[in-house]
Amino acid sequence: MTILITGGAGFVGSNLAFSLKSKYPQYKIIVFDNLRRRGSELNIKKFHEAGIAFIHGDIRNMEDLEGVDFDLLIEASAEPSVLAGMDGGRKYLIDTNLNGLVNSLEIALKQKAKVIFLSTSRVYPMEVINSLNYEEKDTRYALHVNNVAGVSEKGFCEELSLNGYRTLYGATKLASEYIIDEYVHMFGLEAIINRSGVIAGAGQFGKVDQGFLTLWAANYYFNKPLSIFGNGKQVRDILNINDLFDLIDLQIHSFENFSAQRFNIGGGLKASVSLLELDAMCQNRFGNKRIDFKEQRGMDLKYYVSDNTKISNLRWCPKRNVEETLNEILMWIEDNEKDLKWIFA
Ligand SMILES: NC(=O)c1ccc[n+]([C@@H]2O[C@H](COP(=O)([O-])OP(=O)(O)OC[C@H]3O[C@@H](n4cnc5c(N)ncnc54)[C@H](O)[C@@H]3O)[C@@H](O)[C@H]2O)c1
Repeated sequence: MTILITGGAGFVGSNLAFSLKSKYPQYKIIVFDNLRRRGSELNIKKFHEAGIAFIHGDIRNMEDLEGVDFDLLIEASAEPSVLAGMDGGRKYLIDTNLNGLVNSLEIALKQKAKVIFLSTSRVYPMEVINSLNYEEKDTRYALHVNNVAGVSEKGFCEELSLNGYRTLYGATKLASEYIIDEYVHMFGLEAIINRSGVIAGAGQFGKVDQGFLTLWAANYYFNKPLSIFGNGKQVRDILNINDLFDLIDLQIHSFENFSAQRFNIGGGLKASVSLLELDAMCQNRFGNKRIDFKEQRGMDLKYYVSDNTKISNLRWCPKRNVEETLNEILMWIEDNEKDLKWIFA
């Protein structure tokens, strides 16, 4: 089996590449990345050491993908920030997230390869989520369930409304999902769509607009200033990257059970955390730190927790909690302090 991972030098792609190669040394793993994400270049040496092939290419250029032979594509290349396009860069965002996806589907179709697409909870509109009823508790918002399709005490499932505005990032991902649906329906492409909320773990080069768990851990570790936009009671469920690997492993090896479907996947309510709660966890380890509170950003969500009911019926459940994920991130930072210092500085 040859597996091509586009965006494979990034957080999700590189973790999947290393885990797949380690569990299935007989598989050929090819990572394809243009190294746009700061820090992704640090993985190249490690790919070489692990026996993973690396192609320096850009998903926007069809020619870069042509001639690559593979049986399965994991599409993990993206401009993954919800703030992307705010200050320009809209063409890059759309060319990569949408046109790049079309390029990779064309190649997959030609090669009769299967596709696993990493979509996002950001396909659901801000207003749909923020207009639900929440109780403001001491450290977090708590969801009040009231007869809205797709909403339950477990969180949000695939039936949540898609009517409304969702950011350009979310729009490129939803448009990609619809295009995949058409390739499945019209051309028989075999594809799975996974819509995940926050994914976290070792190997993420966290930024203010993407990767908040790592950003928090790193800024405590390197004693850098931190700001909270809003009151810090926003809640997210955290999907540990190793739980995601378990799911992708299962999907690769029983593809037909998942094919032509989309799934909300996440850490679930038990692995949810607010910024204030995360901050308290970091304070317990590192001591007090002054946090600067700033005005809430318009694109922020009060709450996002994945209802995993559909996917758990297919024998996958997340296992790791937020503390475990935070520990893994801190161990990674400690082990790679020298390399990471300049990235998080
Ligand atoms: N990390 C999360 O919390 C999260 C949540 C939901 C969905 N996702 C999705 O998972 C995927 C991976 O996200 P991530 O967190 O690993 O992001 P990342 O930024 O760490 O990785 C993305 C990789 O894509 C590469 N890339 C960007 N533009 C490219 C281009 N034009 N051609 C080739 N490579 C390009 C970057 O260099 C980077 O290495 C994305 O599709 C993202 O939308 C991530």
